[in-house]
Amino acid sequence: MPKGTYSFTTPIYYVNAAPHLGTAYTTIAADAVARYQRMNGYDVAFVTGLDEHGQKVAETAEAHGMTPQEWCDSMVPAFEQAWDMLGITHTDFVRTSSERQTKTVQKFWGDLYDKGYLYKSAYEGWYCVHEETYYAESDLEKNDDGEFVCPDCKRPVRRASGEENWFFKLSDFQEPLLKFYEENPQFIRPETRRNEIVTFVQGGLQDLSISRSTFDWGIPLPFDEGHVCYVWADALLAYLTGIGYGNETDRAGEFDARWPMQYHFVGKDITRFHCVIWPAMLMAAGLPITHTVFGHGFLMVGGEKMSKSKGNGIKPADLVGIYGVDAYRYYFLSDVRFGADGNISIERMTQVYNADLANTWGNLCSRVFNMTKKYFASAVPAVPESAANTVAANPLQEIAAGMYAEYDACMSNVNFTDAVAAVQKLAGRANLYVEEMAPWNLAKSEETADQLAAVMYNLLEAIRIIALYMAPFMPTTSAEVFKRLSLGDITAVTDIEAASAWGTLPAGNAVAIGDPLFPRLDVDAISLD
Ligand code: MSP
Repeated sequence: MPKGTYSFTTPIYYVNAAPHLGTAYTTIAADAVARYQRMNGYDVAFVTGLDEHGQKVAETAEAHGMTPQEWCDSMVPAFEQAWDMLGITHTDFVRTSSERQTKTVQKFWGDLYDKGYLYKSAYEGWYCVHEETYYAESDLEKNDDGEFVCPDCKRPVRRASGEENWFFKLSDFQEPLLKFYEENPQFIRPETRRNEIVTFVQGGLQDLSISRSTFDWGIPLPFDEGHVCYVWADALLAYLTGIGYGNETDRAGEFDARWPMQYHFVGKDITRFHCVIWPAMLMAAGLPITHTVFGHGFLMVGGEKMSKSKGNGIKPADLVGIYGVDAYRYYFLSDVRFGADGNISIERMTQVYNADLANTWGNLCSRVFNMTKKYFASAVPAVPESAANTVAANPLQEIAAGMYAEYDACMSNVNFTDAVAAVQKLAGRANLYVEEMAPWNLAKSEETADQLAAVMYNLLEAIRIIALYMAPFMPTTSAEVFKRLSLGDITAVTDIEAASAWGTLPAGNAVAIGDPLFPRLDVDAISLD
């Protein structure tokens, strides 16, 4: 029986750019959560997808001589391949151009229309096509030529005069939102993001235009077919579609079992949509609100936000080609604290790879597997009765005993850096234990044969436990280590606490040496061309 459901999302990504390190970052973080919570006994829903509507997409499609639908379809394989390469185990991939998303959007906004939360009005103000957003004049900035420009993308805006739009009464929700933030301090994390949002909402909210009638690449509003839904008022609802909202045929009951979700993982640039507009929409619909919106930081290159336009856009595949998928996931999730901005570089990535993976985790496996071959004919030794193998005498067992509690607390709070540090503590200690116990000396005399067996058992058992806890970050290597220890499929583990109990590794299991898990890398030999 699962412990319960555990559901969360990444943003659904714009189709107009292939997956890059930034979008991959949110996605691998969500995947580490998915893999861990499955091993922790939960029934996981991990929703991701593509945000396909809007004028910009229609224009890009036209520039490529395609219909918007053809253009979006042509972008899907790039996402599928990237997520496949990175070992992403999402449970749904929602495209906003799908029929099921149309049903969700029409049901949701139709319901809010019936409840009286929408009204039609002419818009007087300014519009930015790139951001697909209306702005009040007081929000605008001016460029060097004195033209009004968009405060977000800095492109010139156009005057929108008298355009009829449907508005959502967002301003009604100022007080309810402030009360909600107060009563649910965990809703916006980390704390800095929370303060920004509270200050913003305290400043007052304007009603939100949720329709556009100047183009047609979008979902028609059910109560006024001449209008399509504004991209964000469409995209956020993909989270509901991804767990079966409104689908009582093949996913009956799923939505009720999974809503509200535990997390929405987003970048800090889109927290306002998720922490202001989204909860207000849910309140209006009478639906409970997601437990936590976690706004992670930006990946920076040389102190600047990594982006394609700045020319520092390294592709995930480039790095996976050099370091492998596991080291890729490990580096971004351990070295960049989730929630803070983090500078990334090839030098640092190589340093982390060599120190943590080649010299610590990989080295431990290779030394211990080789010694198992040499001293025990490649089989896990049994711990003889005579060998004092108690917690007191065994520093590895002592660390392993506290591991679940420490690691689980970190993972529940998406503190990947400290979760990894807890596991590395055991790996580091195990390497030290090899030095301290010097199996090569114990092997010299019959008198210390029992002690040698106990030491080797302890090391192999520590390796098994490290593999379990590293699996959410480095699934391929952990599966390989399980294979080398003749253990079953690691992805079948559904109670990591029980599975990591000390002494579970069966004596007699064959141990294979295999190739080095993480061959050392020389930074000077790495080229990204
Ligand atoms: N389509 C919207 C989301 C709608 S969700 C209902 C969107 N899409 S996006 O393709 O632009 O996705 C961007 C995601 O990637 C955001 O979470 C953003 O913060 C993240 N990143 C983009 N560049 C980034 C970095 N350089 N570093 C880390 N993440 C960044 O927004």
